[in-house]
Amino acid sequence: MNITVIGTGYVGLVTGLVFSDLGNEVICVDIDPEKVRSLLEGRPPFYEPGVEELLQRNLQEERLHATTELESAVRHADVIFITVGTPPRENGEPDLRYVEQVAQEIGRALNGYKIIVTKSTVPVGTGNYVRRIIEDHRQGDHEFDVVSNPEFLREGSAIYDTLYPERIVIGAESQRAALKIVELYAPLERPMLITNLPTAEIIKYASNAFLALKISFVNSISNLCERVGADVTQVAKGMGYDSRIGAQFLQAGLGFGGSCFPKDVKALIYSSQKHGLDTTLLQSILDINEQRAFDFVERMAEKLGGLKGKTVAVLGLSFKANTDDVRDARSIEVIGALMQHGADIRAYDPAAMPNFQRIYPDLTYCRSAYEAAENADAIALVTEWNEFKQLNMERIFKLMRKPFLFDGRNIYDPMRMQKIGFEYYGIGRTVEAPLLQPALHGARG
Ligand code: UGA
Repeated sequence: MNITVIGTGYVGLVTGLVFSDLGNEVICVDIDPEKVRSLLEGRPPFYEPGVEELLQRNLQEERLHATTELESAVRHADVIFITVGTPPRENGEPDLRYVEQVAQEIGRALNGYKIIVTKSTVPVGTGNYVRRIIEDHRQGDHEFDVVSNPEFLREGSAIYDTLYPERIVIGAESQRAALKIVELYAPLERPMLITNLPTAEIIKYASNAFLALKISFVNSISNLCERVGADVTQVAKGMGYDSRIGAQFLQAGLGFGGSCFPKDVKALIYSSQKHGLDTTLLQSILDINEQRAFDFVERMAEKLGGLKGKTVAVLGLSFKANTDDVRDARSIEVIGALMQHGADIRAYDPAAMPNFQRIYPDLTYCRSAYEAAENADAIALVTEWNEFKQLNMERIFKLMRKPFLFDGRNIYDPMRMQKIGFEYYGIGRTVEAPLLQPALHGARG
């Protein structure tokens, strides 16, 4: 099939790469000539495992092309994916400016039947809106269909998620369009749900909001765990064995960040309010999340007897492991609060430092976790990178001035850390796990 993908961010590029790897002819379109040039040279504009290899292979085999020329790319295509950004406005409403512009251009370039697929996360009703824009701008009566096909890939495992999605959601208004998209995805052999446009659009928001809800829920529970000597990691395990609950997205920590969860929950609140609906539950997801970084730093201040003039090594800046993306990362909040307390910060991240430097140019950036730990009064572990799990913690301990370890993602074993000599503070768990040391548990009351 001839496919055109408009917008080469995470979703767009990965979609384009996977479809071209499956043997389709794919054109990736972006308005940024720099991005297009770098793609044509085989350099992806962001860090994501597997992307570079796939890009180079498909360029070499001449199935993948990149251009700034939207019109010719539309004319070439049977199926056109819209994967441009929908950044949030102040009030949480997604800004559909880029979707509108692209829809107008598609309308003007239309030269025969095509399917226009919205893959960007767009509020319910956008599919119908895109159809009206294309109708208004097409020259002649060329037929077309609009389909909503939301994307569920995660950064860090984007290629895998696109090749092995747990479900493919196709919101279509005609059988002709639905069958064509089914055909396109058939080689993946994954479950497909065919439904109407608004349903598909809501599935995307409801899924992200529900995952964010799980995280805020377990984070709330972690606060109680801390106060009563329970261990939230065990609580989550105990809950997760129940298949009705499921074990995933129950990792307590500093909360969720990234370009999707915060933005999508806000957008769902906006849509619900527009229809006069109560949004208390959705708002709580965000409120609980907002509080995490603040509470974490307050606890550090309390344990260290204030943070003014103290040196804190911050390990991890990306919003999660295996990405250089720092959008809405919890590290931004943590570092902001640490700075307000007057702490000196030595930061290290395996991939995200260049992006983070644009937000905080004046921090001390280090070449390794060990360098960051030198003469530090405390470590704040913010992102759960694998390389932090396997650090030589005895060496870290020796490098530090004071042995405070605040594990914002529960990646270390509290008992082991205490044995090394750290004063360890995890999230929702105490060093003395109740089962291992019942006497201590009792003593704490
Ligand atoms: C999320 C969804 O998981 C994808 O399905 C969706 O396609 C994507 O948003 C999107 O809408 O584009 P992503 O933002 O890449 O993907 O990252 P996640 O792995 O979902 O993690 C989001 C945040 O939640 C991270 O900050 C992570 O540290 C945090 N998290 C995740 C927790 O705090 N606890 C958990 O148990 C899981």
